[in-house]
Order: sequence, then structure tokens, then C-alpha cells
Amino acid sequence: MDRRALILFGVLLGVAAWAAVPVSGAGDGFGRGVGAQTEARVQYVSKKSGVAATRSDDDTEEFELAGGDLPDEEDSLPRKLPAQGGATKALSRLPVSPLRKERRVLVTGGAGFVGSHLVDKLIKRGDSVIVIDNYFTGRKENVLHHLGNPKFELIRHDVVEPILLEVDEIYHLACPASPVFYKFNPVKTIKTNVMGTLNMLGLAKRVGAKFLLTSTSEVYGDPLEHPQTEAYWGNVNPIGVRSCYDEGKRTAETLTMDYHRGAGVDVRIARIFNTYGPRMLIDDGRVVSNFVAQAIRKDPMTVYGDGKQTRSFQYVSDLVDGLVALMDGEHIGPFNLGNPGEFTMLELAEVVKEVIDPRAQVVYRENTADDPHKRKPDITKAKTLLGWEPKIALRDGLPLMVDDFKERLGVQ
Ligand SMILES: NC(=O)c1ccc[n+]([C@@H]2O[C@H](COP(=O)([O-])OP(=O)(O)OC[C@H]3O[C@@H](n4cnc5c(N)ncnc54)[C@H](O)[C@@H]3O)[C@@H](O)[C@H]2O)c1
Repeated sequence: MDRRALILFGVLLGVAAWAAVPVSGAGDGFGRGVGAQTEARVQYVSKKSGVAATRSDDDTEEFELAGGDLPDEEDSLPRKLPAQGGATKALSRLPVSPLRKERRVLVTGGAGFVGSHLVDKLIKRGDSVIVIDNYFTGRKENVLHHLGNPKFELIRHDVVEPILLEVDEIYHLACPASPVFYKFNPVKTIKTNVMGTLNMLGLAKRVGAKFLLTSTSEVYGDPLEHPQTEAYWGNVNPIGVRSCYDEGKRTAETLTMDYHRGAGVDVRIARIFNTYGPRMLIDDGRVVSNFVAQAIRKDPMTVYGDGKQTRSFQYVSDLVDGLVALMDGEHIGPFNLGNPGEFTMLELAEVVKEVIDPRAQVVYRENTADDPHKRKPDITKAKTLLGWEPKIALRDGLPLMVDDFKERLGVQ
């Protein structure tokens, strides 16, 4: 072969190699740059199944740790130390359509109780919203009213698998919040918290999105300080039946801070205290929904233990306002988002009686393991730095969920 033929052969080889780059990167977890400019949604191909990652039915079957690739092994990406004060600039943004003006927001777990109310607020203010959810505890009905709106997209997807979406902000809520469900398959719960959060942080890093983690007051465990400030490190049993959730969320917070410090991702952390409102799953084991459903059905309200353990209850619209204020503000957190009004379970039962049925009875059952004795947020930090505080008292909020529960229970 003469020299010109050799050069031509080399060029052809190069083109062939380029064309063979796979869309779904099994090696690094990312289909590099594919689809971003065309605004196509690029999903990943699960290494295990070889099909696009849309599993949602593995909540009962997967007990091994998946050995798949994590999405963010891109050591070639430039790293930058975060700026003082927390707000950082995105590193490696995917190209964005020049025609796109509105903010595009991803809400994981957006078909759930809190997520669907958050979606309502974001859509109302004009954002484009993408929801990903595996419907483990969420319901399509919660977001049905947005289907058909061009600014809304709903994707069945399990966050344990990577996904690539071009977004500006990620509210990461995907995780069962009720003990009944998170204890149902504890390994899946911890996978959701660890691998799901890694995947979403990897996505945030990749596309330069802001990332907000919905953590929980459970990171304080059975607290030895009362009320709890964000500076308290908690008292959590690492090997108990609630640990999949508590430790899962603590790890999710760690990952969030490490992506911030190590990769400059612009992050926010909310520690949510007990929240109630319309669209909660009926009979999901959370005390407010349990009491309300039982009182409506004229069943006795089940109190676990002596009923003297305390909780504070926040109405969902207050929480959603807090989450948006946190995302829009300059501060990373963590921030306690909760209503500091503190009630024993028996006091809560009294309020439910007042609102629903004065003749409602209480029955006592043995308490569950590791149930915290008391819980009350100190929200000074959120008040001072976010200008946020809850507005709706329990007696005003409860009636707002009763109508929704009555309708779903078919009771007038
Ligand atoms: N509601 C509260 O009182 C409270 C308190 C503390 C923290 N939080 C946190 O807020 C978030 C939302 O809680 P919620 O009350 O709306 O709970 P929820 O169970 O109603 O919503 C969680 C949503 O995540 C989805 N989901 C679960 N695992 C998933 C997975 N692997 N992939 C994709 N989607 C998945 C569920 O289907 C559901 O739609 C959770 O992260 C929870 O830990 C809630």
C-alpha cells in the first residue's frame, strides 16, 4: 500500500471507531453527550437486564447488592472546589437548546405524597417539570391532572438505575417514607437511598443541575437533644429495623456533601419532619393518615406504646414552600423543615376526634422497635436564612386532608 492509501485507510478506521461508540455507556454509566442537543431523553441500558432502565417491580426480589456501574466515574471531568458560602457553578453542562427559556425541573418520587404537591407548585409558577417514579408508594392519580400539559412529563423509572435528562434542578424525593413500606424490603430501601442518590448526584454533576435532597428528621434517631437543631449529630441504631431508612438517609446526606465538596455540585439538604395532607396513602402506617382513616371508618385509632411519644406535624403546603425556598436560596443546609408544634400521640388523637368524630376510640398496641420518644424541630436556621416558617396549625390543616380521605374511602 502506498502512503496515500495508508492515510485513507487510517481515516476510515477512525470514522468507523467513532461511529461504534455506544449510546448507553456500560463502562462509565453515561451515554456521553448523546441526545442532549436534540432534547431527546436518553435512558441507560441496565447491565443486568440489557433493557432500558424502567424497572419498578423489583421491590420484593432484589436482595443482592447490584454490582453495576455507578454513573459518575468520570474522572476525566474537570473538578473545582466549591466557592465559599456554598453556591457553586456547574462544571460540565450538557449543551442546552438556545430556544429553551423556562426552568426545567426533575422531581424524583414526584408521584408520591409530597412530590405531587411540589409538582403542583412548580407547574403553577411556570416551570417545566419531569417526574420520575417507580410507583412503589406513589400513584399516577396524584399527577393525573397534569397529563396533557406540555410542560409536564411522567416517566416510570427506578432511581436505582441511572438516567440522563437535561434539567436545571433536581428535587430528589424518591424513597418510601412510611415505615410499613420502607421496612417491607429494607435492602431495596437502602439501595434507593444510596444508589438512587448517587445516580441523581451523578446526573446533577453531569448536567450542571442544582440538587436538593429530601432527608429526614430520622437522621436524629431517638434524639438525646430536644428540640433538635441541625448541629445535632443524632442517636441512630445502625443495625435496627429502621436503619435502612435512617442510615440510608444519613448516607445520602454524606454523598450529597461529598459531591458538593469534591465535584462542586450545587446542593441543598432538607431534613423533613412529619408531614401530612391530602394524597397521603391510606393505611400507610404514618400516624396522621392512620388516625384519620380509622376515625373516618369508625374504627378505633391505634396508639403504639403508651401514646406519650411526641411528634410535630407539618401541613404539606408549608413543606413545599420550604423546599422551594431552599432550592431558590443560597444556602446548602441542612435545614430542618417542620412545624415546631409538639403533640403526644394521645393529643393528636384528641385533635382527630375534634375534627372528625368526638366518639372515636383509642386502642393500645405494643410499640414498634426504635420508635423515637420525642421529635420537635428547632427551625431557627430556616427562619433566619430562608425566611421560611410554617403557617398552618394542625387544627387548620387536618380538615383539609379529611375531605380527600373521605372521598377515597367512599364515605360522605
Ligand atoms: N412525608 C413525610 O413526613 C416525610 C418526612 C421526612 C422525610 N420525607 C422524605 O420526603 C420524600 C417524599 O416523601 P413522601 O411522604 O412523599 O413519601 P411517598 O412514599 O409518598 O413518596 C415517595 C415517592 O418515591 C417513589 N419511589 C420510591 N422508591 C423509588 C425508586 N427506587 N425509584 C423511583 N421512585 C421511587 C414512590 O413511588 C413515591 O412516589 C422521601 O424522600 C421521604 O423520605 C418525608
